[in-house]
Amino acid sequence: MPYKFVMDNIRNFVIIAHIDHGKSTLADRFLELTGTIEKRKMREQFLDQMELERERGITIKMQPVRMLWHPGGPERSEGPDYILNLIDTPGHVDFAYEVSRALAAVEGAILLVDATQGVEAQTISVLDLARELKLKIIPVVNKIDSAGARIEKTKEEIQKILNVRPDEIIEASGKTGQGVHGLLEAVIERVPPPEQKSGPSCRALIFDFDYSVHQGVIAYVRIFDGVFKKGDEIKLVQSGVKFETQEIGIFKPARSPTSELQAGEIGYIATNIKDPASVKIGDTMTLASRPAMAFGGYREPQPVVWTSVYPLKEDDFSDFKKAILRLHLSDTSFSYEEESSSVLGRGMRLGFLGMLHLEIVIERLRREFGVNVTAASPTVAYEIKLKDGQSRIIFAPSEFPDEHEVVSVKERWVRFRLIVPMEYLSAGLQLIQAREGSIFNTDSFGENRIIIQAEMPIRELMRDFFDEIKSATSGYASFSYELGDWREASVTRLDILVHGERVPAFSRVVSRSRVEREAKDAVEKLYSIMPRELFAMKLQAQGLGRIIASRTMPALKKDVTGYLYGGDRTRKMKLWQKQKKGKKRLKEFGRVNIPHEVFIKMIRRG
Ligand code: GTP
Repeated sequence: MPYKFVMDNIRNFVIIAHIDHGKSTLADRFLELTGTIEKRKMREQFLDQMELERERGITIKMQPVRMLWHPGGPERSEGPDYILNLIDTPGHVDFAYEVSRALAAVEGAILLVDATQGVEAQTISVLDLARELKLKIIPVVNKIDSAGARIEKTKEEIQKILNVRPDEIIEASGKTGQGVHGLLEAVIERVPPPEQKSGPSCRALIFDFDYSVHQGVIAYVRIFDGVFKKGDEIKLVQSGVKFETQEIGIFKPARSPTSELQAGEIGYIATNIKDPASVKIGDTMTLASRPAMAFGGYREPQPVVWTSVYPLKEDDFSDFKKAILRLHLSDTSFSYEEESSSVLGRGMRLGFLGMLHLEIVIERLRREFGVNVTAASPTVAYEIKLKDGQSRIIFAPSEFPDEHEVVSVKERWVRFRLIVPMEYLSAGLQLIQAREGSIFNTDSFGENRIIIQAEMPIRELMRDFFDEIKSATSGYASFSYELGDWREASVTRLDILVHGERVPAFSRVVSRSRVEREAKDAVEKLYSIMPRELFAMKLQAQGLGRIIASRTMPALKKDVTGYLYGGDRTRKMKLWQKQKKGKKRLKEFGRVNIPHEVFIKMIRRG
């Protein structure tokens, strides 16, 4: 379809919403209506291209797509053509960094609210982000086809969080397509076209990456000023790295080469840079011959939970490291650092934005790179002041110092928003208090719902808080959080000893008030999964300077003489002596071989 390029005819926008409110399904209707995807090639949630996304029905990675649109419909040709650049974003709180990067590349946002659920906690968080960037917001009540849709109530809730008239809120169904045409027209009317930011310079913001063996790092860019062409010599302003543009193009949503990208457009630039570490998300591209100022860039993502990850076979370390670096290009929100453990060998300490994020990254390592790993007990960070006057931050429980060395410990808190139906209010409040949380506000919200604002240590949040609150409220609670300050923590290290020896990978940091319970649970769990030895073996949990829980595994009564027939007493005696010697040696050295599966089972919750 031919089109005349005019900046006024470009609209860049995102769809933002709470998880499962229908972003990807609405995007499907846009793709159909604009004829971007042929009908026979269409499949549900088209923009969720990753196998894991399709399997789990969630969006993990943002996906840009360019659509062309005639105001009168695809078959009518009056009026100018419009280029609509849409970025579909994830809804889960653990992927909020993806959303924030997409928002910086556009002028408008469709705020989608499921009419059967109403405004949820994450709806408010993403709206706050979009407002901070001064995006034009188009509110939409979605899933109006659904039998349980409460359209008017949902509109009232939207009006509570966004200053709009009821007639500005669009009613739509991503499933049936009702209202979707009108929504596209509203995008053209209400979202402002891009503006040229400065004079003659060329500037593009890198908002995402991909990697190809042939083309190296492929930067996803929003052009703010000037024109970028194939063959241009480009400089990354912050890192100083230079390269010649190998290919330039747009997303249809598959990458499709074009001759140039102009101010206002969203597309990709293949850099041929093979070292992933030399390109940073948020960096600014400019022409090497005409340098320009960098954009502000992105805030660094802040991991909240860490785990040590080791390849199953130590020999696989270099493949494992390569996989981590490659995966990091497609998901820059996790952090990595090499480390080694006497038990598990060489590995990496990875930092994540939440437990779902942790799970997805480990799964992607397995699926996309064929790397199988063992992960140690996840932990949050602790800032520890030591008696010798030094302070340090630790990210692994085994590094948490002994009681007598510690003056004080600090940990990070989160401020969160929890929306629950009225009848579950007391269950919600009780759970927050049981998790050391403090509640600072409760307010009625919409029809028969309460919004609770509270705080709690991240340590408690990561202990399956959300799963617990979901089950306590029959699945009705919705939750979002942001990082808060560091506060004094009453925690201690709990060690697990096997046959008198501390096993660092089993250590954990626990609340002092839960230390007895955690100690007993850990010993019981180990008792149930540890194979017996030829000698009796003590399993103990040690904390607060004493042994808190202990169980002895009886010796395996192995009949070493079982294969001998008849009454050859001397040969039997010899074997018994040998067995006795073996037991004595094991007792002396205290070394017990802990099978790999036991490590894996110990770090799994439950
Ligand atoms: P995340 O990206 O993971 O946050 O999900 P999403 O917001 O992209 O939601 P998605 O489009 O995957 O839809 C979630 C579920 O709602 C799916 O089961 C869809 O079939 C269903 N759904 C989406 N839109 C509609 C709609 O308009 N009406 C009805 N009845 N169901 C819908």
